[in-house]
Amino acid sequence: MTALALHRYGPDADAGVPLVLLHGFPLDSRMWSYVITSLPLVPVVAVDAPGFGASSALPDGGLEAFADAVAAGLADVGVTRAVVAGLSMGGYVALALAERHPDLLAGLALLDTKASADDEAGRAKRLDVARAARGADGAAAVAPMLATVLGETTHAQRPEVVEEVRGWLAQAPPSAISWAQESMAVRPDRHPVLEDLRERGVAGLVLRGAEDVMASAQDHERMARALGVDVVQVPASGHLSAVETPQPVAHALAELRHTVIG
Ligand code: MLT
Repeated sequence: MTALALHRYGPDADAGVPLVLLHGFPLDSRMWSYVITSLPLVPVVAVDAPGFGASSALPDGGLEAFADAVAAGLADVGVTRAVVAGLSMGGYVALALAERHPDLLAGLALLDTKASADDEAGRAKRLDVARAARGADGAAAVAPMLATVLGETTHAQRPEVVEEVRGWLAQAPPSAISWAQESMAVRPDRHPVLEDLRERGVAGLVLRGAEDVMASAQDHERMARALGVDVVQVPASGHLSAVETPQPVAHALAELRHTVIG
């Protein structure tokens, strides 16, 4: 049994290899709604992270417990093989899933994320945000992310996206913010997981919004090299590529799934 909410869209997930979508911090599966709309013929399972959206918090454990709960939740609905796509924090979870449940992975898409661990400064910053969210600040602790989570084109030309993301940040549950930051702070480097996937011939996609200031071009090149693929750069998009430019992101995910199912 799992406390996670799995939202299913499109044709029956058990009719084929579904696309499993793991969202970024501190959002929930609504983040994927524009991509999902662009993929009406693809079976999709969008997961809310523990404590976010419709998911309950986990009794204990970090990203690894989250990954185990995703695998258990998928098994509950009959899914034993999937193309797993994670954006940012979702990418960290997808990597934990690949490490702990390798047979589940028919394909892996990493969007605006990294496989490296945090440095000391990054870790300390996360713990500050976790503390602030748990204290008087609540969700206001993540409000400053609006400036960096969206690209310059979105800030200049897509006011409705800016307002929607501002609303999502304000709705982030404080206890889930703290859990996620503390969990992300201790995640290990998982480049070796990518090398394993490459050796086993698992199809991969590494995609980055060209204006992403939170996960660098170098982070993506390193992951792509380990997986044996080229980085797909999406122009006019920042860190939330799936929200800012859903069409090219949906197209790249559909192509990856086609590669897998033939
Ligand atoms: C995210 O978008 O999920 C976050 O930027 C992840 C992180 O803080 O590393």
